[in-house]
Amino acid sequence: MTDGSPDYRDSGLEFPADFVFGSATASYQIEGAAHEDGRGPSIWDTFSHTPGKIVNGDTGDVADDHYHRVESDLDLMAELGLESYRFSIAWPRVQAEGTGAPNDKGLAFYGRLVDGLLERGIRPIATLYHWDLPQALEDLGGWTNRDTAYRFADYAHHVGEALGDRVAMWTTLNEPWCSAYLGYGSGVHAPGVTSGRAALTAVHHLNLAHGLGLTALRSSVTRPDTEYSATLNIHMIRGADDADVDSQSEAVRRIDALANRAFTGPMLLGAYPQDLLDDTANVTDWQFVRPGDLELINQPIDVLGVNYYSTVTVKMWDGHAPRSNADGHGVSTGSAWPGSENVEFVQQAGPYTAMGWNIAPDGFEQLLIDLHQQFPELPLMITENGAAFDGDEVVDGRVHDPERVDYLRRHFTAAHRAMQRGVDLRGYQVWSLLDNFEWAYGYTKRFGIVHVDYETQQRTLKDSAHWYRELISSRRIPQ
Ligand code: FCB
Repeated sequence: MTDGSPDYRDSGLEFPADFVFGSATASYQIEGAAHEDGRGPSIWDTFSHTPGKIVNGDTGDVADDHYHRVESDLDLMAELGLESYRFSIAWPRVQAEGTGAPNDKGLAFYGRLVDGLLERGIRPIATLYHWDLPQALEDLGGWTNRDTAYRFADYAHHVGEALGDRVAMWTTLNEPWCSAYLGYGSGVHAPGVTSGRAALTAVHHLNLAHGLGLTALRSSVTRPDTEYSATLNIHMIRGADDADVDSQSEAVRRIDALANRAFTGPMLLGAYPQDLLDDTANVTDWQFVRPGDLELINQPIDVLGVNYYSTVTVKMWDGHAPRSNADGHGVSTGSAWPGSENVEFVQQAGPYTAMGWNIAPDGFEQLLIDLHQQFPELPLMITENGAAFDGDEVVDGRVHDPERVDYLRRHFTAAHRAMQRGVDLRGYQVWSLLDNFEWAYGYTKRFGIVHVDYETQQRTLKDSAHWYRELISSRRIPQ
């Protein structure tokens, strides 16, 4: 029964029969097999092999060795009762240098994965780009080069031809915010560039890639009920209590423009917000937006994918006290917030996950409601939500992870409450199926509901996986 508890720990809440429970991963984080079957290097290979970029010097060379273990990982998904699986396709497996004829062996791997999912009754949700840009394209400027968007469309076309008869739902880009601002602004992600202008140029070319990619997919996909989407890490932004109202609303507006409306504007409304252009006028004149681009970008989608982990709290910096930068995305010499460096990200109240991200299911509920109010006709799908905690250890074949169970319980409750309040939420992909390579943090952060022993590649279901299996089979949030 619902007790409407303020801490989001209700149990027994029931999800509708057509709500899709799944789990998510990404190619570079799990596949390994970095040099096999014609795969070319991506920016993440280069970046992770650059000393000092990744904790412990970790790389994705082997990761979860999923490339070789795909059959047993599929069995694991079936054992959990997953109804969908969100994976990403490594562009450099399909085109080693990002151009030219597709590599049959690379496509064949994803063909086996998709067939294996369908055989087990699991809906394949494929992301075309989860950050592993072919290095050869980065050498030509990467996402600062307009041509990359056209190369992405060619790649999308090839993938659509190979898998478009079977994949149920396509996502063009995963979190273009990270690709642009962490990749080219703060530089904490590959390719490690630190330039505000480059970051905003990348924003536009990623948006263009989304639009061109969708159009290319539509021209090659044949499955009749295919759904199309993009996945955004919409930021849930709050004003800091200790600041005055003007400071709060100005800071929230600026970060909302850079983080959210820079993508939802062109993709869903066909325009960049004027305040974004004004706020960034000292960084760029936006001349890289060419006539006709916004029409190319503003393609209809069926679902918006939302990745949610935490909230941010902001105010305008008063110029005196030391400025904190608790934006949850690492400290760097570059800025992830071009033109709005005078916004201060303040430390939020706990509890926190091992990433230092505050746990805020109320923010999740609010974000879904806000998005629904902004785009009432657009169905939503949680394409990622989950948490890393320290101390996941295998003891007698079990992994007790009560904090992750609690995190998931509270966020599923938040999602359920949002649905009760009218949000059209179609499904939920837990991040992540497996512990994996967590970008700049390497293997130090475990997000999996399944534990991976990186020495032996042994998989062990954590308590959270058992909990999730029960949720999926009963469709009710377990006790
Ligand atoms: C998201 C990424 C995903 C994973 C989670 C923790 O930003 O899309 O690959 O790293 O964060």
